[in-house]
Amino acid sequence: MLEDYRKLKKKMKKTLPELRYRHSVNVANTSVALAMCYGKNLDRAYIAGILHDCAKAIPDEERVQICEKEGIEVTEVERRNPALLHAKMGALMAQRDYGIKDTGILNAIRYHTTGRPNMTMLEKIIFVSDYIEPLRDRAPRLRLLRMLAFQDIDRCVYEITSDSVAFLEKRSKDSMDQMTVKTYRYYQRLLKEREGSEEQNGPREGNC
Ligand SMILES: [Fe+2]
Ligand SMILES: [Fe+2]
Repeated sequence: MLEDYRKLKKKMKKTLPELRYRHSVNVANTSVALAMCYGKNLDRAYIAGILHDCAKAIPDEERVQICEKEGIEVTEVERRNPALLHAKMGALMAQRDYGIKDTGILNAIRYHTTGRPNMTMLEKIIFVSDYIEPLRDRAPRLRLLRMLAFQDIDRCVYEITSDSVAFLEKRSKDSMDQMTVKTYRYYQRLLKEREGSEEQNGPREGNC
């Protein structure tokens, strides 16, 4: 497996600009730490993390063309903001160019920007790691989110999507992917239901 990691990293290093490559390595390492915390497979976390942005270096115009050619649905929001397509395309390239067959890994790449309702733990790990990895410094509340990721990953997903929806509402609703809104609403409801059951049954135990 170590040899496989090396091959993936080497190919990613050739494909991506230096800073994007360092971000990918950080996401892979953060994902492994979270997989340790939540008792999940470390190899899958590393592979999904290192590859999650593998389509990032493809120019915007090409992204739309390639997706259409490959039969991948392109929404109106994605057509206006082709950068959003790098997640869907990343899943395609991870399968086609990096030989990944594990659908759990491919879905974690596919949903790493928007999340989706009822994510698997691997999907949540990649979604959260992409947001909190050590090189990130622009998002608000990073200190809180980094702690929350290891204590209560569902709440961390909720807080991230809540910030993203608030940010996009202020900036431009045109660039808001509806899946981000669906993810936000799903985790908002999940936490409310959980709080209701904690009122009845007492607080749940921590994850780590
Ligand atoms: Fe990304
Ligand atoms: Fe990323």
